[in-house]
Amino acid sequence: MAKEAVKAKMVIDKEFVISEIDSRIYGSFIEQLGRAVYGGIYEPDHPTADESGFRQDVIELVKELQVPIIRYPGGNMVSAYNWEDGIGPKENRARRLELAWGVTETNQVGTNEFADWAKAVNSDVMMAINLGSRGIDAARNLLEYTNHPSGTYWSNLRKQHGYEQPHNIKTWCLGNEMDGFWQIGQKTAYEYGRLAAETGKAMRLVDPSIELVSCGSSGSGMPTFPEWEATTLEHTYDVADYISLHQYYGNPNNDTANYLASTLDMDNFIKTVIATCDYMKSKKRSKKTMKLSFDEWNVWFHSNEQDKQVEPWSIAPPQLEDVYTFEDALLVGSMLNTLLKHSDRVKIACMAQLVNVIAPIMTETGGGIWRQTIFYPFYYTSVYGRGTALKPIINSPKYDSEDFTDVPHLHTSVVYNEEKKELVIFSINRHLEKTLQVDIDIRSFEGFDVVEHVVLENENVKATNTLDDEQVRPHGKGESYVDDGNLVGILPKLSWNMIRLRKR
Ligand code: AHR
Repeated sequence: MAKEAVKAKMVIDKEFVISEIDSRIYGSFIEQLGRAVYGGIYEPDHPTADESGFRQDVIELVKELQVPIIRYPGGNMVSAYNWEDGIGPKENRARRLELAWGVTETNQVGTNEFADWAKAVNSDVMMAINLGSRGIDAARNLLEYTNHPSGTYWSNLRKQHGYEQPHNIKTWCLGNEMDGFWQIGQKTAYEYGRLAAETGKAMRLVDPSIELVSCGSSGSGMPTFPEWEATTLEHTYDVADYISLHQYYGNPNNDTANYLASTLDMDNFIKTVIATCDYMKSKKRSKKTMKLSFDEWNVWFHSNEQDKQVEPWSIAPPQLEDVYTFEDALLVGSMLNTLLKHSDRVKIACMAQLVNVIAPIMTETGGGIWRQTIFYPFYYTSVYGRGTALKPIINSPKYDSEDFTDVPHLHTSVVYNEEKKELVIFSINRHLEKTLQVDIDIRSFEGFDVVEHVVLENENVKATNTLDDEQVRPHGKGESYVDDGNLVGILPKLSWNMIRLRKR
């Protein structure tokens, strides 16, 4: 047994299938906010910019993450956005007061540019419509502009703007966080449910092939959760394919053990949304099972104070630029595990966000680019977590924290990639002081051996990465091994781990 270790046990079996993983669970989000677009993905004066003004260094790093879908253009911003401001010749585009974040939007990037950029990073666009200050007409016109082949006002206008072929955007969000008081055009559940249902109905008449996401609560702590889901689904159940969930966590009280237990809340949030959807399914005698789109999730709290200093109506100021610590990376790894655990119902998830704004990727305007701490668990889970999610049976020691009881020290998800004959285990050891030795019965994976054990660990939970100093980066010196058909996982104290096995 590893020195000073506590022990856990796990059983992994090919037959314990949760679901095929929809790769869109590794989606992300770009909002027209802060330096996500301007100074992030788009910077025409940057040395790496292409002829469209997109930074090639950003494109390359985004491609590393293999993000299959990206939500756009917001977020809070979409609730007062006029999409028509962002099309046509750039020199004619209106500058607008952007009310959600108190800045000026230049509209130099809009629907077409973003569709181009998404293609360049091998992603689909997940488009959100404005159901705050606008409604059915703006939504159906946008859809006609993006998806209708030609011969109508909006589709011809797209062609006139240089886009002969439609963008064929498949997935559409019916507004954003419409339960939130901070939203322009906040709605009651009844008001939103009716508007979303009627808008979705009209959109499907324009293009029956689209998928629609109905707004769920903007967090598990909302006072209207889960009544919001129950009431809105009364109206949207038939038209929508997904209901959204949003959740951010933080560690403002500097309590690592409690912070790392936040996924117990996330797990509960997902279960409650599923239960509410299934209640509605029974009530409506529906054959359809509602899917979940966890289309905003991450850590967000570091930049809250700093953001109070933003100069009103400035253009693309730094906003929501959280500098992530090592412990944030551990939580992000656990949040990914939680999504995988529910991959039978969570079919889309978007890490919020992608570049500069609460992001795994940071840039200097006019300068370099770097990976934040949270980049790493996302990278490995996205690249290697494809295939079938398996349900591990876990017996782990537990702890209690300020807000949670019975928090397992071991947090794990398991993916079997049949094509590659690979078994991949993503594990977090939440123990603050001790190594966790996990004895893993891999009964149905005879002949499998460890290919690599990647570890993210650090003596300093507050360690961060900057352009010049990457303090938090993974190493491949994990000590797990197969012994007599059993896998022994050695997980250092407070660490994120990926143990990858392949058939010999
Ligand atoms: O991602 C940042 C913000 O968080 C989004 O604009 C909003 O939808 C959520 O409140």
